[in-house]
Amino acid sequence: MITVGNVLVGAGVRGCLDDAIPASARRVVVVTQEGIPPVAVARPHDVVTIGTGEEHKTLATIERLCRAFATFGLTRSDCIVGVGGGMVTDVAGFAAATYHRGVDVVHVPTTLLGMVDAAIGGKTGVNLPEGKNLVGAFWPPAAVLCDTELLATLPEREWRSGHGELAKYHFLTGDDLLAMPLEERIGRAVAIKLAVVENDPQERTGARATLNYGHTLAHALEIEGRFDLRHGEAVAVGLVFAAELAAALGRIDTARLGQHRAVVAAYGLDGRLPAGVDPERLMILMRRDKKATRGLTFVLDGPHGVELVEDVEPAVVRAAFDGMEWAP
Ligand SMILES: NC(=O)c1ccc[n+]([C@@H]2O[C@H](COP(=O)([O-])OP(=O)(O)OC[C@H]3O[C@@H](n4cnc5c(N)ncnc54)[C@H](O)[C@@H]3O)[C@@H](O)[C@H]2O)c1
Ligand SMILES: [Zn+2]
Repeated sequence: MITVGNVLVGAGVRGCLDDAIPASARRVVVVTQEGIPPVAVARPHDVVTIGTGEEHKTLATIERLCRAFATFGLTRSDCIVGVGGGMVTDVAGFAAATYHRGVDVVHVPTTLLGMVDAAIGGKTGVNLPEGKNLVGAFWPPAAVLCDTELLATLPEREWRSGHGELAKYHFLTGDDLLAMPLEERIGRAVAIKLAVVENDPQERTGARATLNYGHTLAHALEIEGRFDLRHGEAVAVGLVFAAELAAALGRIDTARLGQHRAVVAAYGLDGRLPAGVDPERLMILMRRDKKATRGLTFVLDGPHGVELVEDVEPAVVRAAFDGMEWAP
């Protein structure tokens, strides 16, 4: 078992759930989805199931959850447990942040992406028709249990999606996460993310921006929504694109660009643009990115490592698109 702050990683760590739930909690509500492996809770508890898919990540779901908490009689000193992928932990975390003005939450992520990213770091929230994750709160979990046994049923596609985030961490530190056994790989990713979050827990100083490496184009591809990409798959394309852009700006050389393509491929991902995307349309979407307060803004590699670069010339962004390969 590996411990990073209040995150436990290892086979069977779900068995530590009762110890992870604060002693004050007399009752627990488990928030989960159909098809997620069940997790045993020792204290009196209720289980509430939410719908599968981003279309259920809404304020309506938060209302339904909070009403279920009230019906069950959950109090401020009780605890909510999120068992599922990033969608479940984002929703359970936001409901916990707002019910009775905030109750404790413990996360048991069941996807690789949840373990290395979504369930840690304290961001919670839901979507609006106007955009993803537009309403939310910073609500750090009391504990996170990353039980690798729960990944036994995870579909291949979801593994790949988690590897997109791992490839991102690879570039942030140079660590070859693939060379590590699974438990260590997850533990190392958690440590990388928490070290960044610690310096900027509420995303006020910009230090957290590096965690968005590869995400400017990824978010644009996800908003377009026509390409059926899982989040980490979109990040993989975004990482290669960020490298093309850094090369076009003279920030990195062709060897480092080639390394980006090679690392993305090694993590089992496709760094090519999906057939049919329109770069001009993606540029409009990237301009609306939350980071883009001053022109087209990207997180880019360079002589000082990965950092935020503002006001990138549209002509250079077009040149980066020209350098990209296309999936058939
Ligand atoms: N809060 C953050 O910092 C943060 C970071 C990254 C992503 N996110 C959010 O996370 C969400 C994506 O999370 P995700 O990639 O984990 O997807 P997800 O939660 O939608 O899960 C993907 C699918 O896998 C299923 N599943 C989950 N665990 C399973 C298991 N063990 N066995 C079988 N099936 C299982 C789910 O039911 C779902 O159908 C998005 O909503 C995104 O906005 C949040
Ligand atoms: Zn991400």
